[in-house]
Amino acid sequence: MSSQTLREARKYEEAFGKRIPKEEKPAFHLAPWVGWMNDPNGMTYLNGEYHLFFQYNPYGSKWGNMHWGHVVSPDMIHWKQLDPAIARDNYGQIFSGSSIVARIPEGANTDDPFLAETLVPGNGGEGDFIASYYTSDNWRMPREMQEMQSYAVSMDGGRTYRKYGAPVLKSDGRRDFRDPKLFWYEPKQQWYMIVSADNEMQFYSSKNLRDWTYVSAFGDGYGVQPRQFECPDFFPLNVDGDPTKQKWVMIVNVNPGCWFGGSASQYFVGDFDGEKFVCDSPKETVKWLDWGKDHYAAVTFANEPKGRIIAICWMSNWQYANDLPTRQYRSQMGMPRELFAYSVKGSKEIYVGQKPVDELNSILKPASVSVEASTVNFGNTNAQIMVELDVKNGSTFTLSNDEGEEVFFSVNAGRILMDRQKSGIIPTQDFVSETWSPKPSLGTNIGTWAPVEQLIGKQDTYHVQLWLDICSVEMFVDGGKANMTNLVLP
Ligand code: FRU
Repeated sequence: MSSQTLREARKYEEAFGKRIPKEEKPAFHLAPWVGWMNDPNGMTYLNGEYHLFFQYNPYGSKWGNMHWGHVVSPDMIHWKQLDPAIARDNYGQIFSGSSIVARIPEGANTDDPFLAETLVPGNGGEGDFIASYYTSDNWRMPREMQEMQSYAVSMDGGRTYRKYGAPVLKSDGRRDFRDPKLFWYEPKQQWYMIVSADNEMQFYSSKNLRDWTYVSAFGDGYGVQPRQFECPDFFPLNVDGDPTKQKWVMIVNVNPGCWFGGSASQYFVGDFDGEKFVCDSPKETVKWLDWGKDHYAAVTFANEPKGRIIAICWMSNWQYANDLPTRQYRSQMGMPRELFAYSVKGSKEIYVGQKPVDELNSILKPASVSVEASTVNFGNTNAQIMVELDVKNGSTFTLSNDEGEEVFFSVNAGRILMDRQKSGIIPTQDFVSETWSPKPSLGTNIGTWAPVEQLIGKQDTYHVQLWLDICSVEMFVDGGKANMTNLVLP
């Protein structure tokens, strides 16, 4: 067994991280130069740049003071941090939201997006600009005005924004009303917003991105409970790559109350006709986009140039996000992943998988591991490696370093399990608490597991890919049909 470590990624330390020793900063995961970060926001692509805005406290290492931070990248892996793009104001903190690329249609009698009668999707031409929606959050306001949706546009690639002014969309009386996600729906030639409202997701439509009409809601009673729906996303995917079999996917990030404690990303698959989303599965069906503890607020890029649906999550959990050890920044994003919808033989369900984007292939070459290996020792505590191995049903294996710290895995009883009890610092009890419905046959009751038999089918061997970047392990089973993201703190 030999392990080949980091190759290209080091080059990009220049972008930020100079004050942190290189070997202590994730190389292919986005972390801010300084300060606190949570959800990815407003991800889009324009003129050769992927934009990622994020929930940012530039003044401290804990949540608060929310701004939209801003990073740009040619490939979603090597990021450059710019000044915060949207700062908090009298309407409140700048909470999560989304961006789209739009333009004023030809023949309009204005060149001001805020005055245009209609706006249409960008076409790659000069008139394209970024339009963003975020939630203005202010607990000093009356209850139904504590969270309202605000609009801003940027004519210079997200560097500076012009705010519309007062928020444009108020709630129907609920306190929790946030995280607007915009999308264009071609058949109706109009924009939609999906926004979380307590424990459901509401759709609104608009021609000009200013005036919104309520359309419908989905979610009450669906999926895990108790829960607060947050950070929605909504997009079509071809099932098994077949364009004649298209389904709509709704991502619903849920906090708290998820199976492994705290926050996680749930999704629903169904149909949408511009009026209503109808879910294919019964209300009790629960589907997770990732089966780890550190995968939250996952949302996707708008305007992706190759038409891919690519998600990035915040690699943390509200149970302990503010308590994780830090030096100069706190939190990082997960790797960019391409989403795909697929069916499983013998099941009616359509699932959504996530695989690392092709761009990541130039970062790490897989360590070669013999099929029999039961311990993969990566030596250095600050390892950045990718390990690929075929794991037999009924077997266990560990990732370990020279300090004797380890992450334990087992494939058993139709599930694959990851256990980080001995992986280094355990900041809080929640970090290693008991799994939901543990099974003794998995070798431990502590950890997170994914039902590989349900998601992939019953197999003698599962192909496992593990991406390790100092303080996180991301697992992709059989090309991303089952995934698991967990922080480790060696
Ligand atoms: C999700 C979330 C969002 C909110 C943001 C605030 O992690 O709670 O619902 O907009 O964080 O930072």
